[in-house]
Amino acid sequence: MLRGAAAGAGAVGALGLLGSATATAAAPAAATTGVRTRSRRFAGKVVLITGGTSGIGEATARGFASAGAKVAFCGRRTERGRAVERDIRRSGGEATYLPADVRVPAEVKRFVDRSVERYGRLDIAFNNAGIQVQKPLHETSVAEWDDTTDTNARGVFLAMKYQIPHLLAGGGGQIIVNSSVGAVVGRPGLSLYQSSKQAVLALVKSAALEYGSRGVRVNAVLPGITDTAMIRPPGLDDATWERAKTALGKLNVDGLGTVADPEHIATAVLAMAGDEFGYLTGVALPVDGGIAAGRRMLLPES
Ligand SMILES: NC(=O)c1ccc[n+]([C@@H]2O[C@H](COP(=O)([O-])OP(=O)(O)OC[C@H]3O[C@@H](n4cnc5c(N)ncnc54)[C@H](OP(=O)(O)O)[C@@H]3O)[C@@H](O)[C@H]2O)c1
Repeated sequence: MLRGAAAGAGAVGALGLLGSATATAAAPAAATTGVRTRSRRFAGKVVLITGGTSGIGEATARGFASAGAKVAFCGRRTERGRAVERDIRRSGGEATYLPADVRVPAEVKRFVDRSVERYGRLDIAFNNAGIQVQKPLHETSVAEWDDTTDTNARGVFLAMKYQIPHLLAGGGGQIIVNSSVGAVVGRPGLSLYQSSKQAVLALVKSAALEYGSRGVRVNAVLPGITDTAMIRPPGLDDATWERAKTALGKLNVDGLGTVADPEHIATAVLAMAGDEFGYLTGVALPVDGGIAAGRRMLLPES
């Protein structure tokens, strides 16, 4: 399995399990077993993914490709993007990596337009690229605010802005945005991240109303804590990370075990994109082990 690079240590640090560092260095991504697909049910479909070079985006790219879709994905790490592309093709799938930074309008436009040029149309977009900064609000710099909102919120706006004309030209399609359960619950130390993730829910709901009559469905997925480089502190040994994941899993509903694998989220994205879910639009679907449902009441023992 390919290995990823980290964007932050938010969830772990937020729980105080491993300190509160904001990580930017490389950390291994989870070993994956792949999304289980029933068939080549996306054969002939063209899928665009922002941030497909690791984690949830990579798992979703692999999932769609193994279900027969032609997948174009972007990210800034060219070497890694090419390795993911190669790996998907070796497994018999069709994928193209195109470098693009979602903060830069011209790069997002080029990524979208070139993908459509290459594969002829656009059916499904998964706007997934994101970063996380974990800090107390008053210690968050204006530059960190700008970078996070430019990536997580403005980046989604730019992707949608350039994708929608292609979806309309093709008679419809769909957009799925990767938000976070953090959009609907608070978490100390993550106010910046959660704000950026809530902003995109407004884009999803309004766009669902705006484009529904022209055949475009727009939805969001809200992952819970997922084992990717985003939350795994760099340099952490596997045994410590396994213990941390077990502790983090306690935020889930009892019985759902540890944190999610990227494939749990990818499986939900593929399901939402399927024709079976053709009645679903304007929805923010938590795939979060029950975190959004609330917290168990702990009563004092009598
Ligand atoms: N892991 C979790 O617990 C969790 C929970 C809820 C939601 N999410 C969301 O899931 C999404 C994917 O994150 P992940 O957990 O899979 O972590 P990850 O492995 O760090 O993946 C992040 C992806 O976003 C891309 N990216 C970041 N900044 C970018 C930029 N400026 N331009 C283009 N691509 C960019 C990265 O590619 P490059 O580095 O190559 O640019 C990478 O492919 C994020 O939106 C995150 O907020 C994650």
